[in-house]
Amino acid sequence: MFELPVNERLKLELLEPGHASELYMLVDANRDHLGTWMPWVENTKSTEDILNFIKSGLNNYAMRNGFQLGLRFEQKLAGVLGLHYIDWDTGATEMGYWLDKKLEGKGLMTAAVSALLEKLFNHYKLNRVEIRANPANTRSRAIPKRLGFLEEGMLRQTGMNAGERFDMVVYGLLKEEWQLRRED
Ligand SMILES: CC(C)(COP(=O)(O)OP(=O)(O)OC[C@H]1O[C@@H](n2cnc3c(N)ncnc32)[C@H](O)[C@@H]1OP(=O)(O)O)[C@@H](O)C(=O)NCCC(=O)NCCS
Repeated sequence: MFELPVNERLKLELLEPGHASELYMLVDANRDHLGTWMPWVENTKSTEDILNFIKSGLNNYAMRNGFQLGLRFEQKLAGVLGLHYIDWDTGATEMGYWLDKKLEGKGLMTAAVSALLEKLFNHYKLNRVEIRANPANTRSRAIPKRLGFLEEGMLRQTGMNAGERFDMVVYGLLKEEWQLRRED
């Protein structure tokens, strides 16, 4: 299935049912780290829940409406990077990601996002990639900033986590901006 090498130690691979227990163990080991920012974590209570997430990602992949990829660092599952949807009419998509707490600070997600952007703009011929983050999520915001995304605005009270509403800051990157950056 879909695999994307990032460098000699890191690759992206389409998540499949056989990854469910490995992925569940990773989520379970990272509950506090992930749950602060992502509402689905508290509802993920079993391998079965993860299996449903993987199947939904595969269904999106089959429908050409997004996908969920595992980051595999030195053979071990290290996190997830996915597209929530693909709008082929406008050529737009939105990315989401998370990483094992133990592997933060090495540039893994920035490298993975960068490799995926290359694929999205040059192979899939998409035109716009969006990333949304809670304004307090400094590490998440640093990724689009590092990769040349423009901070486009704030969506007020668009998120909900543990009963609390929160704003989301929107970053966008266009194909022409990515290509100009690659030529530098
Ligand atoms: C968001 C998240 C993936 C960011 O992880 P991260 O490790 O900060 O991001 P990267 O893997 O790109 O690594 C960047 C870090 O590695 C460092 N780094 C080392 N080598 C690097 C390289 N070659 N290139 C880029 N950064 C490098 C950077 O300086 C940065 O560290 P710093 O913030 O201490 O300066 C992670 O914090 C996470 O999973 N958070 C919880 C879930 C979440 O919030 N998801 C997003 C919801 S919107």
